[in-house]
Order: sequence, then C-alpha cells, then structure tokens
Amino acid sequence: MSEKHPTSESAEYVLKRQDNGALALFNPALGETMHPGVGPWEEATRLYAGAGGLADALTARGRWSGETGEVVVFDVGLGGAANALGALATRHELAARHKSQGRPAPRPLRVVSFEHDLSPLRKAVECAAELAYPLGWEDTLRQLMTQGQWADPAGEVHWELRMGDLTELVKVEPRRGDLMFFDPFSPRSNPEAWTVDVFSALYAARRPGGDAMLVTYSSSPASRAAMLLGGWFVGKGPSIGKVRQTTQAASRFSWLDEPLDRRWVALWRQEAHPWPLGTPPSRRPQVRRELLEHLQWMQAGGLDESDDQDENSGGAGKPGKPGSKPNPGKKPGTGKPNPGKRSGKGRDGVWAKYPQRGYQKPSK
Ligand SMILES: C[S@@+](CC[C@H](N)C(=O)[O-])C[C@H]1O[C@@H](n2cnc3c(N)ncnc32)[C@H](O)[C@@H]1O
Repeated sequence: MSEKHPTSESAEYVLKRQDNGALALFNPALGETMHPGVGPWEEATRLYAGAGGLADALTARGRWSGETGEVVVFDVGLGGAANALGALATRHELAARHKSQGRPAPRPLRVVSFEHDLSPLRKAVECAAELAYPLGWEDTLRQLMTQGQWADPAGEVHWELRMGDLTELVKVEPRRGDLMFFDPFSPRSNPEAWTVDVFSALYAARRPGGDAMLVTYSSSPASRAAMLLGGWFVGKGPSIGKVRQTTQAASRFSWLDEPLDRRWVALWRQEAHPWPLGTPPSRRPQVRRELLEHLQWMQAGGLDESDDQDENSGGAGKPGKPGSKPNPGKKPGTGKPNPGKRSGKGRDGVWAKYPQRGYQKPSK
C-alpha cells in the first residue's frame, strides 16, 4: 500500500454529529464516517436488519418461510458494531414479544463479524452514553473484543469475531451465511473489499442448496457489477436519508424488492467507471460479456438488442467518446491529474497486495 494511502487499520476515531443530530464514528485519516447522514442506529435497523429482512428470517416468514435452525448473519466490517447490535436487538425484541404473546421463540441467531481493527469498537464502548446504541451492551462488546465470542445465557444468540483481512477471511469462513451486512468503508478507502472475488466468496458461503441475501449502502455501478459477476441477483434497496438508493443482492431473483433491469444496463453502459474494482483493462470485454449474459436480465424482462452492441468500445463511457462523461481522474481539458480525485497510484498499491483474477499492474 502506498505511504500516501491511509489504511483503516489502527486509526483514531472521533465522534461527529450528523445532519439529523445523531452522533457517528468518524475516521479523520480516511475522511470516512460510519453510517453518515442518518447515524448508526437508523441505518443499522432500517437498512441492514430492515431491508435485509432479519425479522422475517428469525420468524421463518416471507423469503425464509419454512426455514428452521439458526439464522447466520455475516457482519462484514464490524466497525462500531451498530449493525451487529441492530441484529441482536431485533432478535431480543422479537423474543420478548413472542414470550408475552405465548408464541414459540424466534429462531436462534448467530452473528459472525469480520474486522481488522478494533479501535472503532473501543471508541464505541468508551462513548456508549453519547452514541446511545451500545448502552447496555458494553460487557458484551468487551467480551467479544477479549475472547472473540459471546453468547447469551439462554444460548440462543451467539456472536463470533473473525479478526483479520476480510478479503481473506470470507474465503475460509466455515459458517454458512443467510444474511450478509456488507459495510466496509467506501470503495475509495477500501477498494479491496468491493471486488468480484469478495462477492463470489460471500455468494459461495451461503448454505448448500440454500439462499442468502446481502445488503449494502453502496449503489455504485461498479460495485453492483461486482455483485452481479460474483453470482448475485441485484436490486435497489431503500433510500436512507440523503442516500437515494442502497443495494439488495440475493441468490434468488424473486427475493429482490426492486430488481435492476435494462434501464440499469443502459446507465451502466454510460458510466465513466463501470468496471468492478481490480478489473484489468484486458479483462473488460469478458467482464462486459459476462455481465450482459447474466440471468438477471432474462428474469427482469430481457435486454434491448442495442444493449449488446458496441462490443469493442472498451466499455461504456470510453473516455473521449461523444456523450461520455469526463474522466474524473483528470482535470477537465488539461489532461493533468485532478487533485480532488484518486490518481490511481494508491490503487496500484492496493492491487499489488490484493491481486485479482488476471490483474496486472498497468505498464507506465
Ligand atoms: C463503515 S465501517 C463499519 C461500520 C459497522 N458496520 C457499524 O455498524 O458500526 C467499515 C469497517 O470495515 C473495516 N475494514 C475495512 N477494510 C477491511 C478489511 N480489508 N478487512 C477487515 N476489515 C476492514 C474497517 O476497519 C471499519 O471498521
């Protein structure tokens, strides 16, 4: 990794007030906020537990109708644990309601969290009163940090921590996931997380013969393309605060609330940066073919004939092509690097550490 490219490992976190008054954890070195805009609890409960359908999974309804045994949640990017605690709180509230109504307990819950830096979690415990969502869970969080696992006294909720690089951990994870909260930092800071390799590994980590759902805040075309190429069907997730769209991905098309269709393909083709991160230029034609041949489009009503033209264009938004967007890596009209944008040097460092299928460092 280049020296100028700060990493999220062992970073200092501070609290930052969001537009709606909620406090969130902020990493000044990366300029990244965890759950920006609406704050941790609203995003954790509305997007991750909510759009992920955790309550349905725990009560074996809807998508998870008839399922038995424990529900396994992969919490990719534990951070300050808002998403994981959102899952625990959802199970806790359901259990209390079921008990008061004389109904059977919800399905057991197991959360498997992936993280390489515990400093945001330490900060969340230290600032539990200000953040509010960790209140009452401090001992649980301390035990998770020191022992790597926690279970409730009834043995119906388990939480396990996998410390290390998520790009490696998800490939060797022995547990099978039903619901995946995908919440690394943005592709600008954590490009290694938003690759076809990682989404393929998560797709492969679902139960044998079973289905899984993945939710994430990102709606970027390149990230959605990486999910599609990783094997997922992909759809729009709910709008949260100022974020107009989030993303739901599922192993089964019918599980999506709002599947992407030919309109998304048309937009993807106009994108200046449509390629999944880490895609070497030499692989672009193949990636494009695989994407256009994805079963998603047949299920979503098909593609227009024109969607499959322009095979040799090098991709949608080919720089300089009439009507394409300007390349944001260059200052318009100068050909010089735009200081506001990543030059690509940092990315080379990243891909040397995280080689992708067929990736070669571009020659100078
Ligand atoms: C946006 S924060 C997660 C917020 C968290 N889900 C929550 O609810 O508080 C992203 C987290 O991903 C972690 N992360 C980023 N890249 C990683 C990697 N390659 N391996 C493991 N963890 C990583 C960061 O350390 C950070 O804690």
